[in-house]
Amino acid sequence: MTECVDLSVELAGVRLKNPVVVASGTFGFGREYGQLYALSELGGICCKGLTLHPREGNPPPRIAETPMGILNSVGLQNPGVDTFIARELPELRRHDLAVIANISGNTPEEYGVICGKLSEAGVDLIEVNISCPNVKAGGLAYGTKPELAAEVTEVAKRHASVPVMVKLSPNVTDITEIAKAVEGAGADALSLINTLRGMRIDVNTRRPILHMNTGGLSGPAVLPVAVRMVWEVAGAVKIPILGMGGVAKGEDAAQLMLAGASAVAVGTACFDDPFVPLKVRDGLTEIAAAQGLARISDLTGGVKPW
Ligand code: FUM
Repeated sequence: MTECVDLSVELAGVRLKNPVVVASGTFGFGREYGQLYALSELGGICCKGLTLHPREGNPPPRIAETPMGILNSVGLQNPGVDTFIARELPELRRHDLAVIANISGNTPEEYGVICGKLSEAGVDLIEVNISCPNVKAGGLAYGTKPELAAEVTEVAKRHASVPVMVKLSPNVTDITEIAKAVEGAGADALSLINTLRGMRIDVNTRRPILHMNTGGLSGPAVLPVAVRMVWEVAGAVKIPILGMGGVAKGEDAAQLMLAGASAVAVGTACFDDPFVPLKVRDGLTEIAAAQGLARISDLTGGVKPW
């Protein structure tokens, strides 16, 4: 039965053999997970966020568990875009999956420079991150104001020769305002949601658990927020959506697709069980087969609101 379902989907003109990709920051560049299973089982990989220059990230502690999730304040630790292109991209290219480079900049111009380099190097898609809650410059500052979000998108589009997908923050009053601004500036796709800002405090020391005081919440706790926001954004824009936030099983992914996502990303759940992306793919396929769908893409936007 399940073999009758066509799992391929399209995201901004990029064909994914199945709709499951792994979310940025939860899968590195695939080296460690690639020792456990063939990366070509995945539809795609969103690589750890890249910046123009290498970054060490924030001081520890920068990860804290929460009920149904984790808080992180990693601070964009990464080897820099040039090292990614020289060392990681050729390795990833040995596998049959879409390579999505997630990028952050301190200025719109930096986003542009990184887009130029990655386009020339030949990634499939660039995920422009305007939603990292853990850095002082760039990040969330761009993702919470429609005009700044549009400016970064416009500069990225000007320098990129591959499709540009913009990653939105849930830390806003109305996510559709940002989505529409970014679509208007030429984005080819949207990804959402990034993490929700949160905080934990040690009641004995009275110190926040994270060195940066606050961090971004991810994991199963955020799934309903993600489903709601994907649904709202899908109703407001025409460009495709990569949905993410708390996906741990096929049913979670199906909810995001019914809400309007063309593909889904699995993130925090990979820390619990590295095989979750494959289980999500198989669970999603079973749901589609049980509902008699010929294509997994038939789930997209299929919610029947009351
Ligand atoms: O802190 C971090 O590296 C997280 C990035 C993000 O949430 O986009």
